[in-house]
Amino acid sequence: MAKAREQWGSRVGFIFAAAGSAIGLGNIWRFPYTAYEAGGGTFLIPYIVALLAAAIPLLLLEYSVGHKFRSSPPLAFRKLARSMEPVGWWQMAICAVIACYYAVIVAWAIRYVFFSLGLNWNDAPDTETFFADFLHAGAPGEAPSMVLGVAVPAALVWLITLVVLALGIRKGIEIANRIFIPLLVVIFGFLVVWSLTLDGAVEGLNAFFTPEWNRLLDADVWLLVFGQLFFSLSIGFGIMVTYSSYLRRKADLSGSGLVVAFSNSSFEILAGIGVFAALGFMATSQGTTVGEVVEGGVGLAFFSFPAIVSELPFGSIGNGLFGALFFASLVIAGFTSLISIVQVVVSSIQDRLGLGRVAAVALVGVPMAVVSVSVFSSSQGLNLLDVVDHFINHYGVVFAGLVSVVLVAWVYRRLPQLRNHVNESSSFRLGRGWMITLTVLTPIGLGAVLITSLIAELDAPYGDGAFSNEFLFWAGWVVAGGALLFGLLMALIPWRNADHINVEPARAESKEERR
Ligand code: ALA
Repeated sequence: MAKAREQWGSRVGFIFAAAGSAIGLGNIWRFPYTAYEAGGGTFLIPYIVALLAAAIPLLLLEYSVGHKFRSSPPLAFRKLARSMEPVGWWQMAICAVIACYYAVIVAWAIRYVFFSLGLNWNDAPDTETFFADFLHAGAPGEAPSMVLGVAVPAALVWLITLVVLALGIRKGIEIANRIFIPLLVVIFGFLVVWSLTLDGAVEGLNAFFTPEWNRLLDADVWLLVFGQLFFSLSIGFGIMVTYSSYLRRKADLSGSGLVVAFSNSSFEILAGIGVFAALGFMATSQGTTVGEVVEGGVGLAFFSFPAIVSELPFGSIGNGLFGALFFASLVIAGFTSLISIVQVVVSSIQDRLGLGRVAAVALVGVPMAVVSVSVFSSSQGLNLLDVVDHFINHYGVVFAGLVSVVLVAWVYRRLPQLRNHVNESSSFRLGRGWMITLTVLTPIGLGAVLITSLIAELDAPYGDGAFSNEFLFWAGWVVAGGALLFGLLMALIPWRNADHINVEPARAESKEERR
């Protein structure tokens, strides 16, 4: 007999979990720099266009698929159309890859909370060197060695994540998000206000918001925007399909989706303001420009922030507290997102093998934790992470998002059915605009951006050629291509004894619905 699918305790619980998944390292660690790099004030124009023309419509599409078919991505897409199953496995594989390095960044942030409290980087010649010393990062190609200072907190991150997942949807994921998301909003809101009091904050905001109009038609800018939005909203890699599959039969999908999307964007714009206010302070205190002190990617949080914290005017306790709260925000935001990424893998395996939750967590969680700790916590971890993050986001997340839209909208023409499904119980009704956007704007926009970036990539390999002849560069392609290949191969294995595949609502839910 089919087992009842787990469910969120309430709509608010689902919104907290979905917002917890969306608000992550991408918002605090990646958004401020991406926005700056992609043209500052002008960034907001492609950002809003891409949010409305691709990200929100796709988010609602993922909600509708997960909720209608009440399954993890491989099974949900399989139920939609047999030949879409590979997309689900592809997305699951993308999640497995992302989880392995994402956990390690959360582990760095944990160490940085303690470094901040002790202001331990004060003696380092500069914070970039400190970061390299802390990671014992080797040059590309050097033999890797284990870095215990990263491996131990990474193992702890995995342990906590797997315990939360083993506790289940309602008792584990929902409770964790109900505690951590309000805490994060309070801590981070406080930090942003605090950073606005710094001398030079206005210079930082000017740098952040000053438009560069000539960048508006630059395809790279648009790819940065799509990549950022997809990663940040957790779309294109199966998370929202998975989370919405645990909603009750009657659920306000569109209303919840809009709340999640706008909370996520508000949070990242707030993060941009806070981070650039702090960078403005640093530039002013060093008598230089914001452009000189800003670092890209990982560097922004892990090189620039320690330097800022060391120079703040709040005394050693105040400075330590500021730094600890910043890195604690990264830990909390990263942790609630990591939970959702790993849950995609757990639920896919549960649906496929008919396993209980704890068995599935052990079966997939332990190998992922081992790979994460042994590969990404090694002295080659940073190099590998940099390359894998680039390739898996552009040629994994964005590409998988594009393929899913094209198949649903063009090949199987299921948008009208999915729209009706959303409209049956949602507060905000989806009209033809949603279907037209997904059929025309989203595929054309994503397709154009991906092709342009691929041409540019082949022309000038990632990392300015630094990795072009290296194992690392190929590792990026192997991982991105491997996820796709894994999806295709998994879908070839026939499903036997699939009685456990549950599509019916739990009995308890039917009672609640009648109330
Ligand atoms: N959405 C998550 C983030 O922004 C993955 O980090």
